[in-house]
Amino acid sequence: MERKRKGLILWLTGLSGAGKSTLAKRLEEEIKKRDCLVEVLDGDVVRTNLSKGLTFSKEDREINIRRIGFVANLLSRNGIVVIVAAISPYRGIREELRQTTHNFIEIYVNAPLPVCEARDVKGLYAMARDGKIKSFTGIDDPYEEPLYPDIVCYTSEETIEESIRKVITELESQDYITPKPQLEYSSSCVS
Ligand code: ADX
Repeated sequence: MERKRKGLILWLTGLSGAGKSTLAKRLEEEIKKRDCLVEVLDGDVVRTNLSKGLTFSKEDREINIRRIGFVANLLSRNGIVVIVAAISPYRGIREELRQTTHNFIEIYVNAPLPVCEARDVKGLYAMARDGKIKSFTGIDDPYEEPLYPDIVCYTSEETIEESIRKVITELESQDYITPKPQLEYSSSCVS
């Protein structure tokens, strides 16, 4: 009989430019090596379909996050590892999701605002500073840091690989995922 897969939600929260999407992609690759089904829900992508038309007001961000949480829960309870990469700036909603979804793990992708702003991968911080974008998280809109995240990745201090290792080690130690199958030595390699 096929073993039951353990679904979970890896919820990556943090400022724009903190590295959530990059970590999500690398985590996806790494977890797929462990015989898991994986899906990524990225805020930028979700906002082009499921949440198309929503603004960045508090109300709309909450709708966006609840939608992502809803879909993530459907997948996770059916044995899929869901990796969410969304700013999700409000602590209350994240806590609500922790209580109402299946195996919710909060990962704080932590990089200081000046670092994210200096990276400015999409040029949005500069636009926000110029007043061309309103309600930009960290500039003129709040980001409520997690108080008790399950895992913190300090992306300005760690390499991506160090952050990935930290997450994978934690998931293995909590028995959420099993270690990657080891390559077997062929007899010609054994002396
Ligand atoms: S959330 O607040 O609702 O969780 P989400 O993760 O979906 O945000 O989308 C964030 C992305 O939208 C950012 O990475 C950035 O590319 C873009 N964006 C555009 N306007 C804003 C804004 N005012 N605040 C934050 N991000 C914005």
